[in-house]
Amino acid sequence: MTMSNVKRRFGILTGGGDCPGLNAVLRAAGKTLIGHGHELVGFEDGFQGIMLERYRPLTHQDLSGILTQGGTILGTSNRDNPFKWCHPTGLAAGQSQTDCSDKVCEMMDKLKLEALIIVGGDGSLSIADRLNREKNIPCIGVPKTIDNDLEATDVTFGFDTAVQTATECIDRLTSTAMSHHRAMVVELMGRYAGWLTLHAGVAGGADIILLPEFPYTLEHICQVIRERNEKGKRFSIVAVSEGAKPAGGEMTIQRMVATSHDPVRLGGIAPKLADLIETETGVEARSTVLGHIQRGGSPTSLDRLLGTGFGHLAGELAIAKKWGSMAAFRKGELASVAIADAVCRLKLVTEGNAYVKAARAVGTSFGID
Ligand code: F6P
Repeated sequence: MTMSNVKRRFGILTGGGDCPGLNAVLRAAGKTLIGHGHELVGFEDGFQGIMLERYRPLTHQDLSGILTQGGTILGTSNRDNPFKWCHPTGLAAGQSQTDCSDKVCEMMDKLKLEALIIVGGDGSLSIADRLNREKNIPCIGVPKTIDNDLEATDVTFGFDTAVQTATECIDRLTSTAMSHHRAMVVELMGRYAGWLTLHAGVAGGADIILLPEFPYTLEHICQVIRERNEKGKRFSIVAVSEGAKPAGGEMTIQRMVATSHDPVRLGGIAPKLADLIETETGVEARSTVLGHIQRGGSPTSLDRLLGTGFGHLAGELAIAKKWGSMAAFRKGELASVAIADAVCRLKLVTEGNAYVKAARAVGTSFGID
């Protein structure tokens, strides 16, 4: 371990929806920086901690024993955007949102922070990119999300645990579906990307997988279920992404969260689809929305590895002043990429995806011909 002669101070926050592995990142980034003789300040509840001046120093002791814990010791928020800010109580009272990003500069000066390490998904990293480019605030990114929808990295941490959890749930639904000869419609998260549903659906042997990228037809879904019944397979598992939509139709929106980088919250397609399937086919159908269960719990070994690798790399990138860069995983290796390249568009599932092809080959339907 090389100690630096000059003590430098960095800030860190976890933003957006939580996921398993956040604490592994905090631990590795913090221990890397502290190991080099530097200091780390943790902001609480994502960008809200900067705006409301809620922060605390992170010591070696704070970072011990947290590798296996789900969630984030710093707390997080997926509603708070410095460029579109309104105090949480003001928002409830109907106040409007304004650009308060200067507050971030003020806090950097006040706490003598050299840079911010932002652990987040598409929303938080887009904010990091803007802070970096428009406000000249040095930022380093770490790619987090169960949605796995960030470009420039092959995988985000948190995804593997969510896939594992969702797969276990599909397994459980399969045994009860078989007993009752039912169609089970299980809804998974993932926003506009189908990665979580594709991976858990394939791993759980779902008969029909519905993704936002491939609009479905109800006719096709019902035809598959009828054909299965005729062949004596008297149960069906339909894994549906919260963002899936019928051809020519819309996604199912559950609520809007005004200050969020993306205000749309999806959800609720599974019960709608189960009703339609039962009406059209006469096969008894039930729905399960997995919801936030997919975001909780202890990280898998892969997410602990990714979290540790990403966190360490983020610490090194900060020490090396590689502002605007993000820790990533590409072609089996940890790598540094530009945050801007990770948030330029969403990474989506395509027809050419190897697991889509393999699933089709084993008879899985994607809800279209
Ligand atoms: O981006 C992570 C995610 O879990 C999405 O899969 C989901 O659409 C969204 O967050 C749910 O957000 P909230 O926690 O605000 O309900």
